Order: sequence, then structure tokens, then C-alpha cells
Amino acid sequence: MDYKKKILITGGAGFIGSHLVRLFVNKYPNYQIVNLDVLTYAGNLANLTDLEKKSNYSFVKMDIVDASSIQELFETEQFTDVIHLAAESHVDRSITNPTEFVMTNVIGTVNLLNSAKHIWNDHFEGKRFYHVSTDEVYGSLGNTGMFEETTAYDPHSPYSASKASSDHFVRAYFDTYGLPSVISNCSNNYGSYQFPEKLIPLFINNIQNNKALPVYGKGENIRDWLWVEDHVRAIDLIFHQAELGTTYNIGGHNEWTNIDLIKLLCEIMDKKLNRKTGESEQLITYVKDRAGHDLRYAIDSSKLQKDLGWKPSLQFEEGLTKTVEWYLENSEWLNSVTSGDYQKYYNEQYQKR
Ligand code: NAD
Ligand code: DAU
Repeated sequence: MDYKKKILITGGAGFIGSHLVRLFVNKYPNYQIVNLDVLTYAGNLANLTDLEKKSNYSFVKMDIVDASSIQELFETEQFTDVIHLAAESHVDRSITNPTEFVMTNVIGTVNLLNSAKHIWNDHFEGKRFYHVSTDEVYGSLGNTGMFEETTAYDPHSPYSASKASSDHFVRAYFDTYGLPSVISNCSNNYGSYQFPEKLIPLFINNIQNNKALPVYGKGENIRDWLWVEDHVRAIDLIFHQAELGTTYNIGGHNEWTNIDLIKLLCEIMDKKLNRKTGESEQLITYVKDRAGHDLRYAIDSSKLQKDLGWKPSLQFEEGLTKTVEWYLENSEWLNSVTSGDYQKYYNEQYQKR
């Protein structure tokens, strides 16, 4: 078949990447989708078993840090577009091992930019490099205000510093070489297939297993939560419609203190597990705060809403309930990702607190 586009999606075996790959493979049968992922602890092909037989989908196991293999792949495949999600994504891990974040998030991104620039060779018509980034690059808010696309970068964790750096490189390649790029910066995602090191799936798993719920500090930090399927819908719109060289913020207008979110989660879990009201809340344990813990994130997504007509589709309570149901129904998935190395990570991360 003659495909209209050949799109490289990096990090497609991870949480957001797997939702994006699924959306694109099913919605655009005339696009050929190549999912490139090195399959770290966070990458899992079991997230995509429903796509294995799709003729417009293929998978390549490769490390974006390996410049020569990436270059060779671009030369062979002649991608028309790149949507780049592959990254080390967990703030706590970046505090323990910052260098790994520099390698994947900065060097890996530069390798992809170089290869795209090389094969497109100044023939940029109809080409696009979409870099998926985070609101954490903007730093931390006080009690008021929101992150806008023009907010100055002020990253605090090694994770956000590495993502900020990668964003700067993407913009530098646009300004210097005219490489056709767009960037989006999104708030905290939640939903199915999220690795249970992040707050919501970690706490669902712990509640289910009657384990302590380690709340950092006083639980007063605020995050702006967005359902992952709303994020990938926004990526679809931005990929197809955004003007080159632009940035879009994506967020749920849905701010929660961690402790209020955790209490809501406990309430939903009590109902789903037929526990007495208040039973799961007893697992809440306040532990040592995360180093450099950003107080508050809040995204102003009005540009995206106005330009491209996007808005979040789900109320948080509804989305959180759907998410809990998914994890309870997919205990096999949860068990498979929490066996092996996960226990070692968990003990090292939480014993010291
Ligand atoms: P994730 O950790 O679930 O998935 C990352 C994927 O990248 C994994 O499949 C992993 O195997 C792959 N990967 C890691 N290093 C690689 C390498 N060197 N080469 C090839 N593949 C590699 O992450 P996620 O939560 O799905 O986030 C995806 C992207 O979205 C990231 O760039 C992240 O910064 C960004 N983002 C995430 C959120 C969120 O709330 N999760 C919010 C905004 C932006
Ligand atoms: O804002 C977007 C970012 O959201 C993404 O770029 C990151 O990839 C993603 O991991 C997420 O970062 P956070 O650090 O906000 O997410 P996390 O789920 O790790 O933590 C959410 C909040 O919960 C944060 O304030 C820390 C707190 N927390 C987290 C864990 C894992 C706890 O209190 N206890 C925990 O055990």
C-alpha cells in the first residue's frame, strides 16, 4: 500500500506513547506508524498487543542514544514525520540518577533532530518533528497564576532540566536550520497503562495490597490532572494543524492537592473493593518530602482551546473511577510490571524515607 505518511513515534511502548500509537494506527489506516522503543522498565509491548496484526504498524527496538543506529534507521526508512515521546519520565528516578536523564532526554533528542535534519536535507516541505514535553519545564507556581506558553523556563529537578534542555534544542534547530518542529507541554496525565511508580497507579496498587500510601511532605503540593486520552487527542490536533515553530500548553484545568486526590482515590477504592468507608484512608502515611519538590503546576490551555477547538472530555471523578476499574480488571498487567526489578526499586525508593 502507498502510505500518505510514514511516522516514527518514539517511546510508543510507554504510557502516553502506547495511547498515541493506538489512536494513530486505528484512526489513520493510510499512515504507516513505526514505534521505536528500547523497552526500559517503563516500556512494555503488552501495552499494544491489540495492534500486533495491524498492517500499518511495526515496532523497532532501539535506543535513541545510539546515534549511528538511529541515523541508519532514518536513512533506510525515510520517515516523513517524527513524534518524539521516548524519555526517562520519573522525577524521583532523576534525583537518584540524573545522568541517565541527560543521555536519553537531551542526547537522545539531539540524535533524532540530527537524523531528521540529515535525511530531510533542507527539503522540509510536508515534514514535521513533534516534540512532546512537560509543564515541569516552567518550574513551580505559588498560590496563584498559571503556566502560559510564554512563561520563562525555570526547571528544578534533573528530569525537568533535561526536558527543558531538549525543548531548547528543538527550538534551536527550528531557528538555526528551519527544521519544521512543534512542541507541546502537558500537565500530569492519568489513565490506563501508566507504570505504577507514578502517584495514581502506585497508590491504586498499594491500596489493593493493603500497603502504606507514602505521601511526600504534607500532601499539599498541587498538580493539574489530565486524562491521557485527552492528551493524545490534543497531540493529534497539534500534529496536524499547529503552525510550525509554535508551542501549545495542554492541561486539564483540574487542580488537586495530592492529599485531596488521595482521599478521593481511597473513597473510590473502598467502594470498588467493598471496604468500609474510610478503610483505605488509614493507609495514608506521611513521609520525607521529595527533594526540590515543586509546589504547584497549573496549565493555561486557552491557546489550544481557541486555536484548535480542543477541550478535556472527562470530569476527573469519572476519569479516576474509569482508571481504578481498568487497574482492577487488568491485575495480570499490574502483576507482570510489578514483579522482578520493581520490588528492588520500590524498596530503595521508599525504605530511605
Ligand atoms: P513512560 O516512562 O511511561 O514511557 C517512556 C517510554 O520511552 C518507555 O516506553 C521507554 O521504554 C522509552 N524509552 C526510554 N528511554 C529510551 C531510549 N533511550 N530509547 C528509546 N526508548 C526509550 O513515559 P510517559 O509518561 O508515557 O511520557 C512520555 C512522554 O511524555 C515523555 O517525553 C514525558 O516527558 C512526556 N510527558 C509525560 C507526562 C506524564 O504525566 N506522564 C506529562 C507531560 C509530558
Ligand atoms: O507535570 C507533568 C509531569 O507529571 C510529567 O512530566 C512527569 O513525567 C510525570 O511523572 C509527572 O510528574 P510528577 O512528579 O508530578 O508525578 P508523580 O506521579 O511522580 O507525583 C505526583 C505528585 O505526588 C507529586 O507532587 C509527588 C507526589 N507523590 C508521588 C509519589 C510517587 C507522593 O506524595 N508520593 C509518591 O509516592
